[in-house]
Formats: sequence, structure tokens, C-alpha cells
Amino acid sequence: MPRIAKGAVPSPNIWNTPQVYELENRAVDPDGAADAAMRALRSWAGGTVLDIGCGTGYHLPAFAAEAARVIGVEPHGDLVALARRRCAGLAAVEVHAAAAQDLPLPDASVDVAVARWAYFFGPGCEPGLRELSRVVRRGGAAFVIDLDASRGAFGRWFSRTVPGYSVREVEAFWDRHGWQRQPLDLRMVFERRADLEAVLRIEFAPKVAEQAIAETPGLELAYPNVLRWRHF
Ligand SMILES: C[S@@+](CC[C@H](N)C(=O)[O-])C[C@H]1O[C@@H](n2cnc3c(N)ncnc32)[C@H](O)[C@@H]1O
Repeated sequence: MPRIAKGAVPSPNIWNTPQVYELENRAVDPDGAADAAMRALRSWAGGTVLDIGCGTGYHLPAFAAEAARVIGVEPHGDLVALARRRCAGLAAVEVHAAAAQDLPLPDASVDVAVARWAYFFGPGCEPGLRELSRVVRRGGAAFVIDLDASRGAFGRWFSRTVPGYSVREVEAFWDRHGWQRQPLDLRMVFERRADLEAVLRIEFAPKVAEQAIAETPGLELAYPNVLRWRHF
């Protein structure tokens, strides 16, 4: 059994099939829309970036291209090892085995914190929000990127897979906590049809995945997300 830090939210897509999740990460956002949207709100050039729930560290090298220091935090031990291997040649990057609720960082030590499809899903993530308030410096910002379940075929497939999910409650939660939002219209573009199908099968319940595959011709699909942020 891998070591998993307390407080981790089960993430079967990347925990069980990190190699398929890697195909998903390679397919998502070929236009770099997510990074451009965050950068326009708060640059991380020369600063310290924290990637919470960094998984296999897919996004860490891109942050390291501009930031002075990049810290990945990830509760799943096997993924921590993969992230460290990915970033072995990058002196600015460090990866810690920890969860969002208990960040191994001093107060006011981060300029830009980012969580992509990780832990900050709405109600229940209050302990992580308190940690963000503690570690992000004045003048810094925190970003949360997540699927927008209210939009498109992807949102419909997600809602069928997680029927208890309430878009209304999630939006009310972020409003209450004073976060802002903007739609993020991402795409997934695959090189091979088999990769697209494998990714849909790790994201959705089996029947929903088969329907999603049938409804998705070709190599591309729309992936409606939302970017949430708060300045500190
Ligand atoms: C869907 S993956 C996304 C990984 C990465 N952000 C990426 O874009 O490739 C979600 C990640 O969140 C991590 N996670 C789960 N619970 C967490 C928590 N309490 N604090 C921080 N990360 C968590 C999981 O272990 C998993 O690696």
C-alpha cells in the first residue's frame, strides 16, 4: 500500500492510472489558456509558487521556467516520487508529501498558490482555505482551477457520474468565502483515439464513459472549466 497523507481526497483517476492521467494532462489546454488567465491576474515571475495536489508534478516545470522557487505538495507517496523524478534536474523545484489541510510551509512564504483539479472542490475544503490564508503573502494570490459541471457535455457526464454534486451549493460556497470566478474554456486534443477513450474511462462511471465515447467523434473535446481566485 502506498503511503497517503491524512486528509487526502480519493482521486482514483490519477492514483490508479497515473499513465492515463499523464495522457490527459498532455491533451488538456494546448492553447495555454489556464496559465495565461492566471498570469493576467497575478504573475509568478521571480516569485514562489505553490502547487497543491500536484500529482505527478506535470505542471511544476512550466512554473519553474519563470518562478524563483516552486513547491509541489501531494499526499500520495507514489505520486510524490513520480513528481520528484520528473523535476530531478530542476533546482528550483521541491516536492513535499503533505495535504492541503496541513501545508509544510511557514506563514507568508508563497506568492502564488495553485490547485488544479485537486481538493478545493467547495464545501469541506475550509481547512485548506485557512492554510492558504496562512501561507500566501500579502500581495499574493491563490487560484483554483476546476471543472465547471454546469456547462457542456463534459459537465453532463460528470453530473451523471457524481449525482450528489450541486453546482448551486459549490458556487454559493465560493461566493461566501469571497472568491472571484471566470469561465475557462479549455479543450482536450489527443493524438490517438485510443488515448481519448482511455481518458474518458478514467473520468466517468463505466456506462457514462461509453456514452461519452459514443458522443465524441474525432480527437478533440471541449473541457469547460472555471478559474477561481482570491488576492491576499
Ligand atoms: C486529479 S489529480 C490532479 C493532479 C495535478 N494537479 C494535475 O493537474 O496533474 C488530484 C490530486 O489531488 C491530490 N489530493 C487529494 N487530496 C488532497 C489534499 N487533501 N490535499 C492536497 N492534494 C490532494 C490527489 O492525490 C491527486 O494527486
